Amino acid sequence: MKGETENGKHNKQVEKLRKRYEQKRELYRLLKEYASDIMESENFRSTRNYIQHGTMPVRRHCIDVARQSIAISKLLGITCNERELVRGALLHDYFLYDWHDKTRENYQKLHGFYHPGIALKNASREYNLTPREKDIIKKHMWPLTVVPPLCREAWLVTTADKYCSILETLKLRKGAGRTRERIRVSG
Ligand SMILES: [Fe+2]
Ligand SMILES: [Fe+2]
Repeated sequence: MKGETENGKHNKQVEKLRKRYEQKRELYRLLKEYASDIMESENFRSTRNYIQHGTMPVRRHCIDVARQSIAISKLLGITCNERELVRGALLHDYFLYDWHDKTRENYQKLHGFYHPGIALKNASREYNLTPREKDIIKKHMWPLTVVPPLCREAWLVTTADKYCSILETLKLRKGAGRTRERIRVSG
């Protein structure tokens, strides 16, 4: 009896790992198909040097938000434009600075309020953004940024962003290795 229960537990765990693996495989397929230009760009790569929450680098946070946005759309059966969803999610925190660094010249306490606008400005400079992608970036902090999202893709990203941010803040999802230490050492 006990053996059966343990077997059941083991199978559930294997199933969970299999699902996560499939989800990641699908994500990397979508990233390659729709966003290889962003993934390979110098500026997007540089976001791995900035911490989002806890020990999580911004780059990985954005990739996680893309993955969770897709997962939520599938779970709830919400049809959407996957290309815009993925690109918008990758660029939603494209503010390109360390928001924890109080010595930064343009440091201000209201990062949460201002960074969607900064991310949008940076992303618009480098990419030809669609109206949906702009809405995703601009509204991802809703309800902090009062005006609600106008499209499904933006609703998905703002939901996924909150989910990922909570896990990171509670340290239930951590960056690989000692990212924070590495960043501190390298200045
Ligand atoms: Fe953000
Ligand atoms: Fe975010």
